[in-house]
Amino acid sequence: TLAARFPEEFLFGVATAAFQIEGAAKVDGRGPSIWDAFSKMPGRTFGRHDGDVACDHYNRLDADLDLIRDLGVDAYRFSIAWPRIFPDGRGEVNEKGLEFYERLVDGLKARGIKAFATLYHWDLPLALMGDGGWTSRDTAYAFADYADVVARRLGDRLDSVATFNEPWCSVWLSHLYGIHAPGEQSMDAALHALHMTNLAHGFGVAALRSARPDLPIGIVINAHATLALTDSEVDQEAAERAFSFHNGVFFGPLFDGAYPDDFMAALGERMPTIEAGDMDAISAPLDFWGLNYYTPMRVKHDASKGAEFPAAVSVAPENVSKTDIGWEIDPSALAYIIRELNRRYDLPDLYITENGACYNMGVENGTVDDQPRLDYIARHLSVLADLIDEGFSIKGYFAWSLMDNFEWAEGYRMRFGIVHVDYETQIRTVKASGHWYAELATAHSGRN
Ligand code: BGC
Repeated sequence: TLAARFPEEFLFGVATAAFQIEGAAKVDGRGPSIWDAFSKMPGRTFGRHDGDVACDHYNRLDADLDLIRDLGVDAYRFSIAWPRIFPDGRGEVNEKGLEFYERLVDGLKARGIKAFATLYHWDLPLALMGDGGWTSRDTAYAFADYADVVARRLGDRLDSVATFNEPWCSVWLSHLYGIHAPGEQSMDAALHALHMTNLAHGFGVAALRSARPDLPIGIVINAHATLALTDSEVDQEAAERAFSFHNGVFFGPLFDGAYPDDFMAALGERMPTIEAGDMDAISAPLDFWGLNYYTPMRVKHDASKGAEFPAAVSVAPENVSKTDIGWEIDPSALAYIIRELNRRYDLPDLYITENGACYNMGVENGTVDDQPRLDYIARHLSVLADLIDEGFSIKGYFAWSLMDNFEWAEGYRMRFGIVHVDYETQIRTVKASGHWYAELATAHSGRN
C-alpha cells in the first residue's frame, strides 16, 4: 500500500495560510495588510474578492481544529498574520493577536497534532509600505522583531518555524510581474525586494535561534522545475538562466552564501547595496527546507529586443493534462527538481510543505467527488516514496489545502481544498480526496 511506503516518522499534514482562511480582518486589533489594500482595488483580484470573511476561520477555530483532528493527520501547517501581532508592522505588540495563535497552537497540542508555523505568507502590514515595503531594508529589521516576539511567546510549543513562504511569489510575482500585492512591475523594485527578503530571512533566523535555540527552523520555497520547452540550444540555455533567476537567487544566498554569477553579471549593478555580513546572515544553517510543488515551468528563449535577464519566457504547453487553474500535471518534474537542487546545493532535510490541485467541483448529494485531486495527490506521493527509496531525506508531506480558500488574485473561484467550503453558509464538507487522505494518514500511523 501507499502508506506502507513511507517511513514510520514521516509526517502527513495539511496546510493553510492566515490571509486565505482567517477573515475577521478588523477584529481584535488586527491592522491592515498589503493584501487588504490590494484586493480592494479594482482589477486586482477576480470579482474584487477580498479576505474580510474568507473561511471565517478566526471565529471557527475550535471546529476547524476538530476537522483537522478528524482527518487523522500528524501535523498542521499554518501561517501567523504579522498584522495581528504588530498592527503597524513594528512597535506596539497586539496581545489579542498573540492570544489567537496561542489558542491555535494549544488546540493542536491538545489534539495531538504537530504545529508547523510560517511567519510570512504574504500579508505584510500595510503600514510598512510607508517605508517602501519589501524594497526597504527597514522591513528586514521589522521582520526580525516580529520573529523574536513569536519565538518568545509560542516557540516552546511549536514543532517548527519557517520564515518565509515562497519568496519567489513575494519577490518576482509581487514586484516584477505585478500579479500579487503590492502589484509593482519594476525590475529595480523587485531586485530590492529580493535582497531585503533574503536578508529578512537571515535576520529572522538569528532572532529565532537566540530566542529558542531548540526550535527547528527552515524556509519554504516554490522551487521551479525549469525545463526547456525544446531541445534547441537556445532553449536549453534559457532554461539554465531561468534556473538562476527563479531558483538560484534564493538557493544560492541561502545555501552557498552568494547570488548566482550569471544573474549578478546581468543585474548585479541594479541590486541594492549588499552590506558586509549580509550574505553570512542569509546563509546561516537551517534545520530543514520546505518545497511547494504544483507544476513544472516550460521555458523558451525570449528573443524579443531588450528582453531582460533571464530572457526566458514560460509557456503553457498544449495537449497536456491540466488542473482547473490551467497548470500542467507532471509528477516526474517533482522528482526532477528535488534531484536537481540536491545535485547543486548541500541541502538540509526536506518537507513537501505544499502540493495539491485545483478542481472546482461542488457538493452534490452531500458529497464532493474530486477523484482527479485524489489521483493528483496519490501520483505525487508515489514519486516521493520513490525518492525516499533512492535515499533522499524527505520528512513529511502537507496537502494544500485543508480547505477551499481565498486563492489570491483568483479570489474564491479556484478551489484547492480537500475539504469543500460553502462561502454562503461556511459549511465544510470533506471531499472524496479528504476521506482518502484521512485513510492514508490513519493507515500510516496505525502501522506504527
Ligand atoms: C501558495 C498558496 C496558494 C497555492 C496555490 C502557493 O503558491 O503558497 O498560498 O494558495 O500555492 O496557488
